[in-house]
Amino acid sequence: MILDIINKKRLGKELSYKELDYFFNGYLEGRVKDYQMSSLLMAICINGMEDEEIYALTKIFIDSGDVLDLSFIPGIKVDKHSTGGVGDKTTLIIAPIVSSLGVPVVKMSGRGLGYTGGTIDKLESIPGFRINLSDEEVMMQAQDIGVVVTGQTASLAPMDKLIYALRDVTGTVSSIPLIATSIMSKKIASGADKILIDIKVGKGALLQTKKDANKLSSLMKKIGSFYNREVRTIISDMNAPLGRCIGNSLEVLEAIDLLKGKIKTGNLYNLCIDLASEMVCMAKDISKWDAAELVRETIENGSAYNKFLELVNSQNGDIKGITVSKKTKKIRAKKSGILEKIDALELGKLSVDLGAGRKSKEDEIDYSVGIKLNKTVGDIINKGDVLCTLYYNDSYGSIDLDKIFSIK
Ligand code: URA
Repeated sequence: MILDIINKKRLGKELSYKELDYFFNGYLEGRVKDYQMSSLLMAICINGMEDEEIYALTKIFIDSGDVLDLSFIPGIKVDKHSTGGVGDKTTLIIAPIVSSLGVPVVKMSGRGLGYTGGTIDKLESIPGFRINLSDEEVMMQAQDIGVVVTGQTASLAPMDKLIYALRDVTGTVSSIPLIATSIMSKKIASGADKILIDIKVGKGALLQTKKDANKLSSLMKKIGSFYNREVRTIISDMNAPLGRCIGNSLEVLEAIDLLKGKIKTGNLYNLCIDLASEMVCMAKDISKWDAAELVRETIENGSAYNKFLELVNSQNGDIKGITVSKKTKKIRAKKSGILEKIDALELGKLSVDLGAGRKSKEDEIDYSVGIKLNKTVGDIINKGDVLCTLYYNDSYGSIDLDKIFSIK
């Protein structure tokens, strides 16, 4: 039966609910092995899935665990999820912004996937920060301070947690049906009334084309309406990294700077304003324009940063303890010109090489390493200028500068 199912998908045929249920629950129970699941995932990656298969798989993922009931928290709860990018620390910024405006945010985040970082890995770079709250703790904190960012609780879509970790190391991350199933099962199980998805497109993203992003967008909206949830999507660029920092501690420090009002331009700032405004406009039923005013104001008057501190304190974190490696290497330009492109994918790979991400399921992350960009797209570069600074511990290997920075 296991082989029959793999072969059926290898031949591009549609799997029934029963077959998917047998195979995926078999994996959860240990009857289906890693190598067999990897094989089916690869067949899905290559041959895709029909809508009915996607609804079935989403249901199997949701039913593998509990569904949170957030109805006891007054107001519309809006959740946000990103398909993942290089330097994407938006959750750290927009969760406190939106919550400081009176909109409750209960966010279950994930770990890094492929070359893209994960919010939970970033939060773990804050010493003491608890990312494994129980359902009861999530509920209590949501009531007390109106914001929670935690790892997927063990009881929430546990199937996704297992499959996600396997996809990360088997080259099966970029399948549109698997991304849709993974994200939507978690979002529906997390109990939000409305869902905003940031779909990233470009070299540093799971999806490379706008066409694929549109496909994912309409698929997630279809799954949302199947489950009676409003889903909105924003398609955002991921050819260059978001912001100037890549690597866990560095990214948390950059998020803090933005919340303190020290960063007011650039792709990270603009995207955060856009996403936070969309969430506020969905929750409060006001125009996006008015929502954006509120969002900018809550950063300016310090409320958003105070909410971030409340979040960190409530989950036992100590931001004074965040450390970045003392070993640094400045990477200098070999020629003069205009910095035309910064390649997010190559920087993502470099950050994983430095130890900021995982190459296999068992790898431990080094939170203190990463890359800080000293220059950004459009800057005038003189030969010898520092383009970026590497924070490393063990080694940084060889760096192909021309692949990362295009100076014309
Ligand atoms: N984020 C998820 O949670 N799942 C995916 O498959 C991709 C990005």
